[in-house]
Amino acid sequence: MNYARIIGTGSHLPERVLSNADLEKMVDTSDEWIVTRTGIRERHIAANGEGVVDLALQAATHALQAAEVAADSIDLIIFATTTPDRVFPSSACLLQQKLGATQCAAFDIQAVCTGFLYALGTAEKFIRSGSHKRALVIGAEVFSRLVDWNDRGTCVLFGDGAGAVVLEASEEPGIYSSHLYADGQYSNSLTVNSYVAQGQLQGESQFTRMQGGEVFKAAVNNMASSALEALRSNEFNASDLDWVIPHQANTRIIQAVSKKLKLPQEKVISTVAMHGNTSAASVPLALDTAVRDGRVQPEQHLLLTAMGGGFTWGSALLRF
Ligand code: UT7
Repeated sequence: MNYARIIGTGSHLPERVLSNADLEKMVDTSDEWIVTRTGIRERHIAANGEGVVDLALQAATHALQAAEVAADSIDLIIFATTTPDRVFPSSACLLQQKLGATQCAAFDIQAVCTGFLYALGTAEKFIRSGSHKRALVIGAEVFSRLVDWNDRGTCVLFGDGAGAVVLEASEEPGIYSSHLYADGQYSNSLTVNSYVAQGQLQGESQFTRMQGGEVFKAAVNNMASSALEALRSNEFNASDLDWVIPHQANTRIIQAVSKKLKLPQEKVISTVAMHGNTSAASVPLALDTAVRDGRVQPEQHLLLTAMGGGFTWGSALLRF
């Protein structure tokens, strides 16, 4: 078995929708500014008491149903999140228990908005090594909990949600390759600078702080460069792609990336208008949306790409 192949996708969004009109009542902003500068029209917000594992459980259940496999056939769970329900145990362990997936390894990955790409790349390597056969890979966030609802520069951007895929060992591709990067010198450009000690939350800020312009430029350059590397290393041209599924942070970022790849907008999946930036959930949510509405079809070639806090970034090229 040489490849890891996606055999099912799923996603879930919390019920409550927060529109731009709602935000106009909360901070000094306008629907016109938000739509023009970001493309976002609405986002979903988890209810009080609704945790990231609750969202992930729904997404995972849909992915397992789509794959037509049972939870106890999963031998690996990798859960990408920045907003775990507990400091420990991991969200992956909490999800494992809820799913009844008793025969597996389970751990979390923290790479903020690139988390799903990191989790997918890690699961792919477990499967390619032959040590594991069937993995559940999750990207899920309740990012609204890290948002300062008085900061108009960030609160209009983020939302909550979950996406999941089931990966299985296969002789046919599958994921061709994944390309992951990080540069910690930008740790202060996008951060929640706090930690728990002596029973207290400590540090500079408990909310997301972002240097928007710097993150914007890095997102365009890093997503494009890793995407081009993924194409080059598999001797693919951009024209060979059926779809690009980028991290959903801002329509202008998505447009700039597709321009650098010389790809028409029609080949780019964009769900940012309806979901906002859901961090690690963004790529699997967009993927599942496009699978369920029929745009993404079996055997098509997809390029996934993301960039987030760290900075972290990466791309994966795959045959669906
Ligand atoms: O997932 C990876 C992490 N996130 C991202 O990739 C996001 C990357 N950054 C961005 O998407 C953009 O930088 C933003 C959408 C955050 C901001 O867009 P921008 O075009 O870079 O705007 P700006 O920060 O330069 O602000 C322009 C103006 C400022 O007013 P002045 O100083 O020109 O008078 C802001 O105060 O827009 C103002 N502004 C707002 N106005 C109305 C900032 N936020 C808002 C708002 N409503 N919500």
